[in-house]
Amino acid sequence: MPAERLAADHVAIHPSGPLRGTVQAPGDKSISHRALICNALAEGEAQIDGLLDSDDIRSTMACLRQWGVEFELDADRVLVRSQGQAAFQESEQVLDCGNSGTSIRLLAGVAAGLPFRSCFDGDDSLRTRPMRRVLDPLQTMGAEVSHQRTAPFQLRGRRLNGFDGTLAVASAQVKSAIVFAALRADTPSSIVEPGPSRDHTERMLAAMSADIEVDGATVTVEPGAALTPRDVHVPADISAAAFWMSAAAMTPGAEIALPNLGVNPRRTGVIDALRLMGAEIDLRNQRDASGEPVADVVVRGGALRGATLDGDLIVRAIDEVPVLAVAAATADGVTEIRDAEELRVKESDRIATTAAMLRAMGVGVEERRDGIRIVGGQLRGATVDSHGDHRLAMAAAIAAMTADPESGPTQIRGASAVDISYPAFWRDLDRLQHDA
Ligand code: S3P
Repeated sequence: MPAERLAADHVAIHPSGPLRGTVQAPGDKSISHRALICNALAEGEAQIDGLLDSDDIRSTMACLRQWGVEFELDADRVLVRSQGQAAFQESEQVLDCGNSGTSIRLLAGVAAGLPFRSCFDGDDSLRTRPMRRVLDPLQTMGAEVSHQRTAPFQLRGRRLNGFDGTLAVASAQVKSAIVFAALRADTPSSIVEPGPSRDHTERMLAAMSADIEVDGATVTVEPGAALTPRDVHVPADISAAAFWMSAAAMTPGAEIALPNLGVNPRRTGVIDALRLMGAEIDLRNQRDASGEPVADVVVRGGALRGATLDGDLIVRAIDEVPVLAVAAATADGVTEIRDAEELRVKESDRIATTAAMLRAMGVGVEERRDGIRIVGGQLRGATVDSHGDHRLAMAAAIAAMTADPESGPTQIRGASAVDISYPAFWRDLDRLQHDA
């Protein structure tokens, strides 16, 4: 059996031949959070289909419920029923965001516009992640903040001024938090971002009648517009599909189809990076779903070559770097990943954890402050740890599949981390390996 379930939280992955088949990747995580939050801010009802069913999304739903928003769940369709942000009620309980940086940062922006105290917390990983980047600007706008560095923290909404400035990091979570606060401010906001971070919040709010405009790197928000609820069809998540895209791209003879994939240009850095490395990727039947570009994507395997991945490409592929590093490890030549220091403050320090995983599997890697230098070659089976990081666990699985068969299976510890964003990952892997 290719993916063996071992003791409680370990799996063993055996190398396999080229993958062929179709994968219906789960709903986009970023769009799922926003479909819930934006509709919660509006008064009325909206239906969301294709919503991601995962731990992070459950964290956002639980927090919104504590403020009084109602959800009705029916298979992968969710009805959001809200009386609007003005009707939110104070929660006696802590808002527990679990492992989810998107939940805590976006909801902090919402809390800045609520006239009561909100207490936020999360798991051990979330408690280490930087919160100043979002709490400082919210405080400048007028919110009362108890403690700025890390969770747990408390926030109380006061009268807010608009935000006018440039963000220190290209982060959609920070930008979105400020946008949510800006909707409730007394004066307009102008937010300039240093790189092209994902724009799902701006797209969704514009479609819900918010007065929001994007001009290049500047987002302007005029407060006061009443939001109208909006049904959302959530496309498949390119960040989840990236594991299969990379697995196919690096194995001659492989071919994987990924239907209904979100291909927002601020998320397609992984496609550009794999193409730069020589992969053959087709986008078919390009269309729009709820204001987001969508396509059916087909990836065919070949021999990859090393490349330099840096600048805006990294912002547009920020969650895909661990699996791109795996692809680089099988490529011909050297890959330089630069400008990726944000990876140090993700669910794990992804520069350190990715480098350690590849090193354990026999790859020549050099860790840099802002990236990794990878010498392509042959991966070897090894024992590796997810460090509780979902994307690390999945990147390790893709590495394990292409390892030298003589070197034996790879043991992945902390395999259940995938539940954060892709609970069906091990099942999909099993099926693809059996079908291969
Ligand atoms: C996300 C933004 C990114 C990304 C995260 C999801 C979002 O984080 O890494 O997985 O949904 O806004 P940053 O905004 O911190 O770059």
